[in-house]
Amino acid sequence: MFENKVVLVSGSGRGIGAAIALHFASLGANVVVNYFRNRQPAEETIAKIRQLGHEALLVKANMGELADIERLFDTIDQEFHGLDIYIHNAASGYNRPVLQQRLKGWDWTMNINARSLLFAAQNAVPLMEKRGGGAIVAISSPGAKRVLPDYVVVGASKAAIEAITRYLAVELAAKNIVVNAVAPGMVITEALQHFEMVRSDVHLAEKAEHITPAGRLANPQDVANIVAFLCSPEAFMIRGQVITVDGGAALLAPGLEKETGSPAE
Ligand SMILES: NC(=O)c1ccc[n+]([C@@H]2O[C@H](COP(=O)([O-])OP(=O)(O)OC[C@H]3O[C@@H](n4cnc5c(N)ncnc54)[C@H](OP(=O)(O)O)[C@@H]3O)[C@@H](O)[C@H]2O)c1
Repeated sequence: MFENKVVLVSGSGRGIGAAIALHFASLGANVVVNYFRNRQPAEETIAKIRQLGHEALLVKANMGELADIERLFDTIDQEFHGLDIYIHNAASGYNRPVLQQRLKGWDWTMNINARSLLFAAQNAVPLMEKRGGGAIVAISSPGAKRVLPDYVVVGASKAAIEAITRYLAVELAAKNIVVNAVAPGMVITEALQHFEMVRSDVHLAEKAEHITPAGRLANPQDVANIVAFLCSPEAFMIRGQVITVDGGAALLAPGLEKETGSPAE
């Protein structure tokens, strides 16, 4: 479906980003893998993409730094002479209660998660224009709208991502660029270890699974499937939307959740 397309996934050395990168490669795309601190898993992701028979480019860049974002897109332009799809996945954050937040944590989180979407999009547009258009999908979170423990600055950054998504969707439409967001529910990755409530309750994921209407938690492949769909011609009329991928978990009224029984699959 994505033969000869060039796809950039930020923060794709590991976690959900790696699953998205590999999924696009499995559908025929050449993929740019971006990492910041962990080179080894990123090299493993690159090796898997090449095993699928597609080109893979590894670029270290801190998405919180504008100069790094510009270098990332310049490198892609030199290598591939354009870009078709940008997946805004990289995220970081200071998980602390409201009263313990500091300016440094706000700036760090907002710059890596949210400011980067605006400036990555600015850099992506000229490369997508060379291809006659493209698609951008940003990864948000339920914390954009709901209150999660210690999540205030990440939640604010995700709310900003969702707002920026809507503006990009409207202003880039004339350039044939389709923009949307995906909000996964709880997905088992290393990111969960940043949450005190996950570290202190080894059964938390199991409990979440048992009340999820779909019978199991979303996994990275579920997220990758929806991201790829939003970049496909079939999704052309979906613009500026945030698609929740959580098996129905966020639909439940707190305290009234009913166990679904055995997890699906
Ligand atoms: N897991 C969940 O339950 C869940 C739920 C809702 C939304 N999400 C969202 O899904 C996305 C992926 O989450 P995940 O669970 O896969 O997270 P993760 O396991 O913590 O991985 C984070 C990724 O972001 C990269 N990254 C961090 N800071 C970066 C920076 N400054 N510049 C470039 N890359 C950077 C990391 O690269 P390095 O390792 O190289 O630093 C890594 O590849 C995030 O946007 C997250 O907010 C996750």
